[in-house]
Order: sequence, then structure tokens, then C-alpha cells
Amino acid sequence: MPSETDAPAPPPSPFHAALHSLRVWDVSLPRFDAATAPAEPGVLFREWFVHAVQAGQVEPHTMSLATVDPRGRPDARILMLHDADSRGWHFASHSSSAKGRQLAARPDAALVFYWPAVARQVRVRGRVAALGPEASRADLAVRSRGALAAALTGLQSEVLGSAGELAAASAAAWERAAAEPDAVAPTWTAYVLEPVEVEFFQGDAARRHVRLRYRRDSPDATAWTRELLWP
Ligand SMILES: Cc1cc2nc3c(=O)[nH]c(=O)nc-3n(C[C@H](O)[C@H](O)[C@H](O)COP(=O)(O)O)c2cc1C
Repeated sequence: MPSETDAPAPPPSPFHAALHSLRVWDVSLPRFDAATAPAEPGVLFREWFVHAVQAGQVEPHTMSLATVDPRGRPDARILMLHDADSRGWHFASHSSSAKGRQLAARPDAALVFYWPAVARQVRVRGRVAALGPEASRADLAVRSRGALAAALTGLQSEVLGSAGELAAASAAAWERAAAEPDAVAPTWTAYVLEPVEVEFFQGDAARRHVRLRYRRDSPDATAWTRELLWP
């Protein structure tokens, strides 16, 4: 009689079969020479961003934003990048949302970009500043009617009673966005994350990944220290 251990293993679940069939970086990987990296991380970020777009990376302007709640518990979600300039990484959201309230109480945050088409990851840590009503209005002014309608709908992160409530509020917001393209969404806020640490990760087929970290003491310090990290 076959023992229990001789019994054939049950077939993997569709989830495990799918999970275990996957690999990362089935592409020819770009080289990254950290020794020739620019002095400013923002310059390198913009170079890498253009490269990711040219390599066909889908939605490279989406990123994960991590914040902490008042009990110190991390929270993270995907946002769109609105700009990256000498001040920092720009995004927008509702100041009344969970992330908006978390940032108001504690402005420390982190961003992560992952661009599998080029086996690259960029991590940014720093302090988030709200840019004020004029910049927040300007942020929406250059975006689509749908973005304005979504911002006017408001109540982000509040508990929703029913899909019908959302449909009604959204329809009213779309109507208003069409009639008043300059309508102000009071809680819509432009933010900038002013970096103190930025890490560039280039994946390598032999697992000798290149990690280059830029760091400075505070967002006001001008000089960046550059250092390699063990992968
Ligand atoms: C691709 C993508 C882009 C998003 N972009 C934004 C954005 O720019 N601003 C925003 O407030 N929410 C955006 N969201 C929704 C957020 O992920 C999140 O659900 C929402 O902001 C509420 O987060 P919170 O409850 O942590 O505040 C985006 C979601 C996805 C999937």
C-alpha cells in the first residue's frame, strides 16, 4: 500500500502555477556606469525617465507613495508623477484624503518607481510640502476634464454608501467641469517631495545589481554625497 508520502503531489493552484512561471527582466539590460552619474539626482532621474519611455515602459509616470499614519503604521498607494524639477518630485491629491491627512501630520514620505522594461528602480525619500492654492489650481488647469471632474467629486478615502451615490456625485461633477472649466476643487492640493535620499537601482543578469545612492543632510543642503550600495 502506498504511504502517504508516495501520494502524488496535488497540482499547483492556478495562482501558484502562474506565480512560479514568472521571471523578471527577460530583456537585454542596459548598462549603468555609476562613476559617470551626474552630481544631482534629479538630472539622472530625468535621463532615466526618458530612457524608460523610449524603451516602451508602460506608464513610467506612475509611482508608489508611502506615508505613515499617526500610529506610525506605513501606508502606500499609486499616484501619478506631475513633474520632477530641481525642487523635487511633484504630485497632487486631496488634502482631506487619508494620505493628505497623514502628510499634514507627518510630512516624511517615500516614492518608488519600477520600470521593468529596463530593470530599473528609483527610490526617493524626503519631506513633502503642500504648494498652496495657486499651484494647486494651476495643477488642475492643465489636466483633463475628467481629472477636474474627479477632483470636484471629492470625498476621497471616505466610506462610500453605495455605487449609486458615487454615480450621482460624479455625474454632477462632470456637468460642473464642463460648465465651469475653472471651477476650484477646494481640497485638491499640489505637493512636492523634497528629497534627502535618492537611490538608482540597475538590475544585472548576474545579480551584480548597481545601486547608487545620493544623500544630503536636509532638503536645504545643496551638496549631495554619492555612494554605491551592496545589492
Ligand atoms: C495608476 C494610478 C494613478 C493614480 N493617480 C492618483 C493621483 O495622481 N492622485 C490621487 O489622489 N490618487 C491617484 N490614484 C488613486 C490612489 O492610488 C489612491 O487610491 C487614492 O489617492 C486614495 O489614497 P489614500 O486613501 O491613501 O489617500 C491613482 C491610482 C492609480 C492606480
